[in-house]
Amino acid sequence: MQLKIAVLGGDGIGPEVVAQSIKCLRSVEDTFGHKFTFTQATVGAGAIAKTGDPLPASTLDICKQADAVLFGAIGAPEYDGNPKAKVWPEQGLLRLRKELGLFANIRPVKVFPALVKQSPLSKKVVKNTDLVIYRELSGGIYYGDKIVDDTKTSATDTCTYTEAEISRIAHLAFKAAKGRKRKVTLVDKANVLETSRLWRRVVYTIAESYPEVTLESLFIDNAAVQMILDPNQFDVILTDNMFGDILSDQGSVIAGSIGLLPSASVGTDFAMFEPIHGSYPEAKDKNIANPVASILSAAMLLQHFKLNEESDAVVAAVLKSFSKKIVTADIMGSSKYGTDYVGDFIADNIMELDGSFNINDENIDLGKSTII
Ligand code: IPM
Ligand code: MG
Repeated sequence: MQLKIAVLGGDGIGPEVVAQSIKCLRSVEDTFGHKFTFTQATVGAGAIAKTGDPLPASTLDICKQADAVLFGAIGAPEYDGNPKAKVWPEQGLLRLRKELGLFANIRPVKVFPALVKQSPLSKKVVKNTDLVIYRELSGGIYYGDKIVDDTKTSATDTCTYTEAEISRIAHLAFKAAKGRKRKVTLVDKANVLETSRLWRRVVYTIAESYPEVTLESLFIDNAAVQMILDPNQFDVILTDNMFGDILSDQGSVIAGSIGLLPSASVGTDFAMFEPIHGSYPEAKDKNIANPVASILSAAMLLQHFKLNEESDAVVAAVLKSFSKKIVTADIMGSSKYGTDYVGDFIADNIMELDGSFNINDENIDLGKSTII
C-alpha cells in the first residue's frame, strides 16, 4: 500500500516522539513491502514564531493532500495562562481538527499486564481494564461563541450541539461496542445542561437500532469516580468534547503513564493520529519522553487502513520492549534508556508475526494484551 503521511511534530516533545513513530513506520514499510512518504509541516508555537499563525495555510494544504496526519503535541509555557496573548498554539490544533472534519476522537485505555504495577491505583482495581473513550471532537464548548465583554470583567463560552453532531459519533460508538463488550456508557451532565439532555434524547433513540448493545448513562461527576473505583465496568464511553478531554487524561492514570495512551481522530474524509499527552516542555530535547503513545498512535494509523497484521506487529514490538524492560524513566524510574533507544528497539523488533500473536489472546508471550 502507498500512503502519504503528513507529519506535524508540533511543540515540546512532539517532534522527538513522532520521530520514533516514523522509524517504526519505516520498519513496517521494509518488513511488509509498503511505500510510505512523510511530509513534515509546522504547527503550534513553532509556527507562530515563523509565520504568526499556529496553523499556516501551507500546513493545512499538506494535511489535506495526505492520506493521514501523524501529530506530536502542542503548547508552550510562554502562552499558558497568558491572558495577553493574541494567538496561542492550541488554536492551531483546534482549527486543524475542525478543518479536517475530525469529529470523533477515539482514545483506548488498556492496562498492559507487564505494567499493571505502574498505576498508582491498586492492581486489583486496574487489572484487565479495557475501555475506549469516544470523544466528540469538533463541537461543544470548544467551538462555541467566545465573548469577553468590553469591560473585560465578564466572559462567555457557549456550548452548542446539534442532533447531527451527536448522531454521527454515537453511531461510531455503538458500532465499536458491537465488536467489543457490547456496552455504551453515555457520560453527560443531563441534570444541569440542555446540551446533555439533547445528547440523551439522540443517543437513546439511536440505541434502538443496536439492540445487542446495552446503553447506560452516567453524570460526569459520578463517571469520574466510577472510572477510578472500577474501570472494568466500562466498555465504550461516549461523551462530548470537554468531558472526553478530562476523562481521557484520567484514564492515563489507570494505564500507569500518560506517555502510553494513543488516539485516533477520524471524520468522513481525513484521519489524524496523536498521543493524548501534551507537549511536556520541561522534557524537550532531553531524550527522556516516552515514545510509546506516539508509536501506538502509528499502530492505530495502520489499523485505520486495515493493515492489521502490520499494526499487530508494532504492538507486539512495544510489548517486547516492556517485557525486556526497554522503557523510559516514567515507566521504570531506574531506567537508563532514552526516547531514541526505546524507539530504535521497537522499530528493530517489528517483524512479520508467525500467527501465534493474537492481540486478544490472554496467553501470548510478550504480554497479555494490547492497548488497541
Ligand atoms: C487533547 C489536548 C487538547 C484538547 C488541547 C491541547 C487543546 O488536551 O488533545 O486532549 O483539549 O483537546
Ligand atoms: Mg487533553
